[in-house]
Amino acid sequence: MSGQAAIRLAALTKQYPGSERPAVDHLDLEMPAGEIVALVGPSGCGKTTTLKMLNRLIEPTSGTIEIDGRPVDELPVHELRRGIGYVIQHTGLFPHKTVGANIGTVPRLLGWDKSRIRDRVDELGALVGLEPAMLGRYPGALSGGQQQRVGVARALAADPPILLMDEPYSAVDPIVRARLQDELLDLQERVQKTIVLVTHDVDEAIKLGDRVVILNVGGRLEQAAPPAELLAEPASEFVADFLGEDRGLKRLALLTVDEIVPGNGPIAEVGDDADVARAAMAEHHVEWFGVCRGQRMLGWMWGSDLNGTVTDSAVRPFRSIVQPADTLRTALDGIVNSSTNVAIVQDDDGRYRGMVRIEEISEGMRA
Ligand SMILES: Nc1ncnc2c1ncn2[C@@H]1O[C@H](COP(=O)(O)OP(=O)(O)OP(=O)(O)O)[C@@H](O)[C@H]1O
Ligand SMILES: [Mg+2]
Repeated sequence: MSGQAAIRLAALTKQYPGSERPAVDHLDLEMPAGEIVALVGPSGCGKTTTLKMLNRLIEPTSGTIEIDGRPVDELPVHELRRGIGYVIQHTGLFPHKTVGANIGTVPRLLGWDKSRIRDRVDELGALVGLEPAMLGRYPGALSGGQQQRVGVARALAADPPILLMDEPYSAVDPIVRARLQDELLDLQERVQKTIVLVTHDVDEAIKLGDRVVILNVGGRLEQAAPPAELLAEPASEFVADFLGEDRGLKRLALLTVDEIVPGNGPIAEVGDDADVARAAMAEHHVEWFGVCRGQRMLGWMWGSDLNGTVTDSAVRPFRSIVQPADTLRTALDGIVNSSTNVAIVQDDDGRYRGMVRIEEISEGMRA
C-alpha cells in the first residue's frame, strides 16, 4: 500500500447469519486519500461493521472494497492490516505491557531491530504529545486522554496510509474530548492519512470530518457530503433531524468572516465636518457612527454628541471586533452582544475592513 490511499466501497453489504435484515445494505462510498471521513448514525446502524469490513475483521456478504483501485480481498490479510492502523474503542491497550511496548507492537511483529523500534516509539510519543517519562509506565497509570494518545500512536507505528478509529473519544470527558479532537486535526495536518472515524456524535463528525457520512438503521446511506454542504442542504428529514434544530448555527460555525462581504458602515474621520457623520447616519438609518483615523477604527459615538467637527473625545469602544478568520458564529455572537448591533472587521494588523450586521450574515448563508 502506498503513502496515501483512497478507499471505495461499492454495494457493500453485510448480513449476519440468522438476522432478518442486513447490518450494512448496499453501501456506496468514496473516501479520498488524505481525508477524514466521519461515519455517524444511530446505534446499530452498522458503523462498526463497516469499519471492520475495511480491514477484514468481518467479511462482507457481497459488494466490494477497493483501496487505491485494488480489491482488498486480493491482498493477503496481514499485508492489508499492515496498511491500516486501527484505534478501537476504550483504546484496547495491553495492560501488562509498558506504554512504549504497546506503541511498538506492530514494528515488533514486523521484526524491526530494537534500536529502530525505540526510535520509532520515541518519535510517535512526541508526535501524539506523550511525555517521554510516560513511555515506561503501564497503561493503568495513565489518564483516559493519555491512553487515547497511546492508542493512536500504536495505530500509526508502521506508518499505515489508513487509520480506522471506532468511537475514539467516547470514554473521555467533554473537555479532554475537545482537546483530543483538536490534537487529531493537528496531527492530520502533519501525517495526512485517510482516516475513517466512527462516532455517535454529530458535532464531532462535523468538527473532524472533511466528509460526513450519515447512516440510518440497516446500514443505509442517508447522505455523504462535506459538513457545510450537509448543514446547508440535508438530503432527507432524517438527516435534518439528526443534525439537530441548531443546524443553522452549526453551519455558522463552519463559515468564516472572510467569506462574506462586510459593509463599510456609517463612518466618519476625525476632523470631518459633523455633516459628513450626519449623512452617514442618515444613509444607514442609525443614530451613531464609527470614528476612524486613517485606516484605524477608534470606536463609535452617538450623533447627539456631535458638535462642529468629528473628534475622538466622545468615542466608545466597539464591543465586538472580529478578524477575517473568525467564524460567522463568533461574529453573530458579537453582533447580538453589542449596542450598535454590528461586529467590526479588522485585519490581523488592526486595519479597518468593514462592519458586519445580521443582514450580511444572512446574505453569506444564502450564497
Ligand atoms: N456478530 C454479530 N452477529 C449478529 N449481528 C450483529 C453482529 N455484530 C453486529 N450485529 C448487528 O448488526 C447491526 C449493526 O451493528 P454495528 O455494531 O455495526 O452497529 P454500530 O452502528 O456500530 O452501533 P453502535 O453505535 O451501537 O456501536 C446491529 O443490529 C447489531 O446488532
Ligand atoms: Mg459500533
